[in-house]
Amino acid sequence: MSESQTQDPEANQSVKELPPARILGIETSCDETAAAVVENGRLTLSSVVASQVELHARYGGIFPEVASREHVRVIYPIIDQALQNAHLDLAEIDAIAVTRGPGLPGSLVVGVNAAKGLALGGKKPLVGVNHLEAHIYSAWITEQSGAGPAPNSAAGKPTEPPKFPLVALIVSGGHTELVLITDHLKYMRLGGTLDDAAGEAFDKVARLLGLNYPGGPHVQMAAVGGDDHAYEFPRAWLRDSWNFSFSGLKTAVLRMVRNLEAETSTSVLPMRTVADLAASFQQAVVEVLTVKTVKAVEAFGGKAILVAGGVSANQSLRKAIQSKAPCPVHLPPLSLCTDNAAMVAAAGYFRFAFGQRDALDIDVLPTWPLDEL
Ligand code: KG4
Ligand code: ZN
Repeated sequence: MSESQTQDPEANQSVKELPPARILGIETSCDETAAAVVENGRLTLSSVVASQVELHARYGGIFPEVASREHVRVIYPIIDQALQNAHLDLAEIDAIAVTRGPGLPGSLVVGVNAAKGLALGGKKPLVGVNHLEAHIYSAWITEQSGAGPAPNSAAGKPTEPPKFPLVALIVSGGHTELVLITDHLKYMRLGGTLDDAAGEAFDKVARLLGLNYPGGPHVQMAAVGGDDHAYEFPRAWLRDSWNFSFSGLKTAVLRMVRNLEAETSTSVLPMRTVADLAASFQQAVVEVLTVKTVKAVEAFGGKAILVAGGVSANQSLRKAIQSKAPCPVHLPPLSLCTDNAAMVAAAGYFRFAFGQRDALDIDVLPTWPLDEL
């Protein structure tokens, strides 16, 4: 916990009844500007996301200065829209939650400053949220106001909130983390990637295959109809640890692509080959993530698995984990897998309900490990 936070000393156990609260969440850690209103950590009253994908696609990745400039341009209209869609005024909001990190410093500052301004002007409590914790709490969100229940499982059924202890796999563009969660806000990091994050591997392999940014959805699409055994890519099991490594896999794909290009004397591979490469790569990532997560939940006696972050939108991963898990699997709805502010508001709700209030002089934390919370 940072020095500028205070926390209720009673806040160390799961409680049945938490106070009701409507939280305005703000997210600008990377290339999405987002604002949302969530009630009691579960019910989305509004969620607005302005994606910068088109802006960054031409660079094949995120251009930090472009990202922060765009956040500045759209942050206030996005917040207004979120309040308007929820049919609420700022006065009817109980607290403002904002992502402090980890993320791009110049992007984080835009959201944190906007949140501070609203907290000061509206005399509202401010709650700084860790982006990885926000991804975790995306699995608590089950309902959408007015739209009936929204599924938080791939099976399409609204589910009970996750039960503790649980093992969470957070797989995004910047992170691959395996975490044991023993109670609300209590994290023990089991392991993480030693090199590339899972999403980063998808993005880099997409580029090798001539697919667009962001790579994950395009690799998934290209893999449809491909043979996932066509190429035997290496799996880094790192057997005595809960860590991951994807750089060897990425290099193996690079070598295979170069060999195939040399064989055919062309830099444009046939669609069928791209499909096989995409499917074989995807299978290698999914297999390692699934096997290690299932082993961890067994080893630590977890009651549930939770998968979150951009890569949790991957259909192969969702299916594999659900079919191999010995316990319930909690998956966010697809719209909440990639960056959004509903998850920030949901995490902010639990922090607020357990007593966290942040001072108005808090700063961004661009490298903020989850287990420092
Ligand atoms: O959580 P997120 O929006 O941002 C970070 O916090 O990093 O995750 C973005 C990452 C990107 O690397 C993107 O390629 C990946 O999630 N991703 C996917 C899929 N959808 C997004 N990876 C695999 N399959 C997908 N369907
Ligand atoms: Zn994220």
